[in-house]
Amino acid sequence: FNIRRMEPKDLIDVQRCNQYNLPENYPMVFWTYSVITWPEASFLAEDLGGKIVGYVLASVEQAEENDHLWVGHINSLAVLRPYRRLGLAKRLMTLSKESMMDTYPLQYIQLHVRISNRAALSLYRDALGYTVHSVDYRYYADGEDAFSMRLWINGNP
Ligand code: ACO
Repeated sequence: FNIRRMEPKDLIDVQRCNQYNLPENYPMVFWTYSVITWPEASFLAEDLGGKIVGYVLASVEQAEENDHLWVGHINSLAVLRPYRRLGLAKRLMTLSKESMMDTYPLQYIQLHVRISNRAALSLYRDALGYTVHSVDYRYYADGEDAFSMRLWINGNP
């Protein structure tokens, strides 16, 4: 697999990959805005034929609580079913983290995940070191709760 930065030309295929894998979908303007505004944050995995098999869409913002601090946001992550458990999500998440850290003085990276999503929870908690920061009740459109998770970059304050 080739893992590289996401570019505007990839977005139709990335959006399709998102729609196959997750109920949380976004309008094309959001994908485009993200990739143009934070070109260092989002990555994709493609097979030898150039088929997109996974992606991570991320953004960077100043922290609400302190505008001297920067926070990375993992907005969407998915790997097509036949390509799971090959380490692709872990590689995508690690590259995105390292690339955001090279560009911004990040304090932490944050994301939301369904409390029933065992695969993603295991990835974030066990493989990547994220911890649960809070529970956001009825975060999702169908009423499911979310764990808000954080990966502290220089240790938990
Ligand atoms: N069950 C248990 N642990 C798992 C699972 C699973 N099904 N999948 C991954 N993990 C954990 C394991 O610790 C794994 O290491 P191991 O294989 O050595 O045991 C580690 O995570 C790394 O796994 P990867 O192979 O890198 O993960 P994968 O490429 O399969 O992608 C993902 C994981 C993205 C969660 C995939 O299952 C998927 O696309 N699911 C549907 C979409 C989804 O839920 N996306 C996340 C939503 S939250 C958000 O977008 C912010």
